[in-house]
Amino acid sequence: MSKLHVSLMLMLSLLFLHCGAMEEPSEPAPMAWPEIAGYEEMVVPADNPMSEAKVALGAQLYYDQRLSGDGNRSCYGCHLEENGLTDGRATALGAFDKQLTRAAPTMWNVGYYDALYWDGRSTALEKQVKGAWSGGNMGASGNDGAPSMDDICATLNEIPGYAEQFQEVFGGPATPDSVAYAVAAFMRTIVTTTENSRYIAFQNGDEAALNDQEKRGWMIFSEKAKCTNCHDGRLLADKQYHNVGIGMDAESPDIGRSNVSQDEQDTGAFKTPSLFDISKSAPYFHDGSVATLEEAVDLMLSGGKENEWLDEENLADAKNADISDEEKADLMAFLEALDVDYMIEEPMLP
Ligand code: HEC
Ligand code: HEC
Repeated sequence: MSKLHVSLMLMLSLLFLHCGAMEEPSEPAPMAWPEIAGYEEMVVPADNPMSEAKVALGAQLYYDQRLSGDGNRSCYGCHLEENGLTDGRATALGAFDKQLTRAAPTMWNVGYYDALYWDGRSTALEKQVKGAWSGGNMGASGNDGAPSMDDICATLNEIPGYAEQFQEVFGGPATPDSVAYAVAAFMRTIVTTTENSRYIAFQNGDEAALNDQEKRGWMIFSEKAKCTNCHDGRLLADKQYHNVGIGMDAESPDIGRSNVSQDEQDTGAFKTPSLFDISKSAPYFHDGSVATLEEAVDLMLSGGKENEWLDEENLADAKNADISDEEKADLMAFLEALDVDYMIEEPMLP
């Protein structure tokens, strides 16, 4: 069969499914999901379409400590509102008080990335959820007496409010996959919009969204120091990996991206972090080694930390910018304007 035939059949079957849905009066109208205005559409996997009921279920699971191996950590527990959706620690403390090696990154716009974690080792949110859940973060490993994801699903299925929702959304009881799908769908709604982000509003033409000092800071960020070589566009991130020298002086440094790519050139390179809510998410960098935002900015303005794999090319403008105290204050004001304006209401748990 030719490609055209296959896609035609696909279209017809989709049409058919659609018509079926329309005949069903109880089918909820498709809900509009938050999106980054002026940016490409979020890619939602075909086998995990968004629905209101699924997102609501995923939100409950994301906030529920009963998901963790030790019963006292939720996903949200390390991605907190007051810390810009991070945990306020240098490196995270996982279930069973296991000390992890990296800092918790923010959750803003995770649905727009095709690779997750500082080294990009996970390529889909659905997979990432199971990784975080069964790994050190949430500790549902099934090892050393800790419950497995299946064990925890059995517990969830005994809670009538959950059993009903899984039945409604997935047509069956909770499984590790359906939990992951629901949590992934919920995370796709954590988005910076023209309503909650002055930066996004500004990028979409609302000149008044930033004040004069913040606008001067934006010019330094984008033109003079060219932070945008990496912290670029609506995401403030280029989806690439760069070595800026963090942690390279350790005895056995975290080699970051090269663990995944097996490319020596990627030694000590990490995914460019988005800078949304940056004033709230101290300490900074993948190892939480820098305490304040000002020190983090100074480090970037110094051109990163010298090492064999430093991305000197992209950091050259920052290094040579030679900015005055006043310009530095403007830059800081711009970074603070990247804070997102939102209030989390934790969902009621069944
Ligand atoms: C103990 C703290 C902790 C808990 C609990 C936790 N996380 Fe995280 N999260 C982290 C850390 C640390 C990283 C970065 C790990 C890395 O890059 O190697 C991370 C990374 C992520 C990322 C990738 C973000 C990006 O920009 O690449 C997502 C998505 C995420 N977590 C979602 C979750 C979900 C869903 C759960 C619950 C199943 C969860 N987290 C539970 C600490 C935690
Ligand atoms: C070469 C690409 C590149 C350039 C240019 C760049 N950054 Fe970064 N930035 C990164 C990467 C990669 C990280 C994470 C590094 C790590 O943790 O190992 C980072 C981290 C940061 C952090 C800490 C973020 C966090 O969540 O902990 C801040 C703040 C920051 N950069 C600000 C700036 C500013 C301001 C400029 C311009 C003066 C700039 N950056 C220029 C790539 C870049």
